[in-house]
Amino acid sequence: MDHLDSTRNDHKDFLKGSLEQFLPNPLLMFQKWYQTAFEKNCPSPHAMVISTVSAIGQPSSRVVYMKEVLEEGLVFYSNYKSKKGRDLESNPHISALFFWEVTEQQVRLEGKVIKIAPEMSDAYFASRPRISQIGAWASHQSETIQNRAALELLVEEFEAKYPNEVPRPPHWGGYLIEPHYFEFWQGRLGRLHDRICYVRKGEDWEIKRIAP
Ligand SMILES: Cc1cc2nc3c(=O)[nH]c(=O)nc-3n(C[C@H](O)[C@H](O)[C@H](O)COP(=O)(O)O)c2cc1C
Repeated sequence: MDHLDSTRNDHKDFLKGSLEQFLPNPLLMFQKWYQTAFEKNCPSPHAMVISTVSAIGQPSSRVVYMKEVLEEGLVFYSNYKSKKGRDLESNPHISALFFWEVTEQQVRLEGKVIKIAPEMSDAYFASRPRISQIGAWASHQSETIQNRAALELLVEEFEAKYPNEVPRPPHWGGYLIEPHYFEFWQGRLGRLHDRICYVRKGEDWEIKRIAP
């Protein structure tokens, strides 16, 4: 295997900010950082890595797009029958991670998912491009398929079945992550990073600083 020098960036300094002032609510804090990530042109600021755990305790991670920040948590959309969907069916605990390199920030959160109201999924599905809508019907996400042609054949079939409006497949929709834990990480000089955690205590959030 080719040897890539993985130590090349080991001594990078983090100098872009500090975390001295934080809001009492982590979702507002998240909103603020997310907004800054957009303004500073972080690539794909809404890309988040979510990890789920299977019934036998095997963790599994993948990227999804975070679509909405609500007062209750963060929303993403997927196939309810996918690998992640099956994991979440048996174990609704989830973790999510954002890394914004431009601002040298990382946000980690942990919580439980619930499926969002069908009407909310309907509204978002209706706003998607037709090709994505057809894809949601044609792709049995995470199942084995014979080859690419088999997938494309299914696309053609659903194109023919739904020449006009495409209804939302019942197995496709949104999840709301209801977080009980947040960590905001701001890179600092000399690896003395700022890390502020929020732990849910009933209706309130306990805030603490942890060592880098
Ligand atoms: C940048 C990016 C964005 C993605 N967004 C989504 C998404 O919003 N929803 C989704 O189901 N999969 C999304 N995917 C695909 C997932 O990473 C994954 O391949 C798929 O959901 C199947 O995962 P699973 O087999 O663990 O269920 C995205 C992948 C990338 C690289």
